[in-house]
Amino acid sequence: MAVDLLLGLQWGDEGKGKIVDVLTKNYDIIARFQGGPNAGHTLEFDGIKHVLHTIPSGIFHKNAINIVGNGVVIDPVIFKKELDNLEKFDIDLKSKLLISRKAHLILPTHRLLDAASETAKGKAKIGSTLKGIGPTYMDKTGRNGMRVGDLEMEGWKEKYRALADKHEAMIAFHGVELQYDLKELEAEFLTAVKTLKSLNFIDSEEYLFQAQKEGKKILAEGAQGSLLDIDFGTYPFVTSSNTTAAGACTGLGVAPNRIGEVFGIFKAYATRVGSGPFPTELFDEDGATMGRIGNEFGATTGRPRRCGWLDLVALKYAVQVNGVTALMMMKGDVLSGFEKLKVCTAYKYKGEKISHLPYNIESENVTPIYTEMEGWAKDLTQLSAPDQFPQGLNAYIDFLEKELEVPIKIVSVGPDRTQTIHR
Ligand code: GDP
Ligand code: IMO
Ligand code: MG
Repeated sequence: MAVDLLLGLQWGDEGKGKIVDVLTKNYDIIARFQGGPNAGHTLEFDGIKHVLHTIPSGIFHKNAINIVGNGVVIDPVIFKKELDNLEKFDIDLKSKLLISRKAHLILPTHRLLDAASETAKGKAKIGSTLKGIGPTYMDKTGRNGMRVGDLEMEGWKEKYRALADKHEAMIAFHGVELQYDLKELEAEFLTAVKTLKSLNFIDSEEYLFQAQKEGKKILAEGAQGSLLDIDFGTYPFVTSSNTTAAGACTGLGVAPNRIGEVFGIFKAYATRVGSGPFPTELFDEDGATMGRIGNEFGATTGRPRRCGWLDLVALKYAVQVNGVTALMMMKGDVLSGFEKLKVCTAYKYKGEKISHLPYNIESENVTPIYTEMEGWAKDLTQLSAPDQFPQGLNAYIDFLEKELEVPIKIVSVGPDRTQTIHR
């Protein structure tokens, strides 16, 4: 049985949490493959909004097992808070939530290092969520990291101490003023580790291999988005993991020839939170309207998201890198009421028209070239079938499908589970 993937095609926050929740009824296992608590995945049903950071978005369904894969980095402190939030929902977490022994741990000093590094960068800061993601993946690839499985071994506290001491020296190296009480942070960490240890740790690659053999249906849930990928994103304004399809192979131990559908999610417009290039960013009333109607505030940090028109140059690139087989367009409802819509179909780059993503995308190099389309006035949030779509929306969808050469299978018209239209 193949493993399907679901991933974001822009700069994150496309609506992955919502769609994973919608699709979970068709799957036996939902598995997160990269990222960590920098992610904020929102789902809404029965009038309640849930934000998950590390826990996969299938957790509210009784039918599915949720796995935190080896490619994920886990902060026990944030993880404990997520578990505490789930307490009132009567979920058997011991059997429904399994953790890879090979997932790396975010230590309190990783978070501090993130803050020190960002402060030291000054204006050139990445705009990190300050969850310790970069420093933790640096320790992973630098072969110094601590993994979940270490917590089952004798002597893990000595290993922890040595790493935390090294981090303190590195924090001092940055030479920035940072207020913290490490003793307090460590006490909180140790309490949270106890909670983490109350769950079941597994060799997730083996578990998933057996599950595939047994014909179980598996959906891999991505975090962040393709343009934040460490290799293919707008480097250095990226996160520290491979957010693209290949990341699911390394982040779960699934062989490439076992990947089935690749579901690519995008917003009908574009947003970005944090620093970095964003060619179609709007600084006018249209951008402010998108932010207001779309409620564009980060689910993890609460920061306002920058908004702009849909960028097809970037989207095509993401479709290509991921091998997307089906698209899902989110937040179409936010565009209702715009008289005209713009879609970026090419860039003017150093005086020339190009239709690929150049190496150096800085706003002074790149000017978007737009195709203008008629908008629609109709409110989409109460619609339930494609035959109710206004003409303008149909034209928008047709245009995107023709440009991207991949069908748009789901159109989302609101944050709730029920506001999801299949085509
Ligand atoms: P994720 O990180 O990809 O899971 O996305 P986030 O949860 O960070 O951000 C998506 C936001 O848009 C959340 O607040 C969702 O509740 C909301 N959302 C998802 N789909 C839709 C939609 O179709 N319309 C509207 N208006 N909101 C949506
Ligand atoms: P989800 O899964 C949007 C951004 C940060 C920053 C950059 C690096 O909810 O879509 P990091 O904390 O990884 O060092 O930050 O990446 N970023 C996200 N933006 N959605 C996310 O996740 C993000 N995770 C990281 O804002 O610009
Ligand atoms: Mg998010």
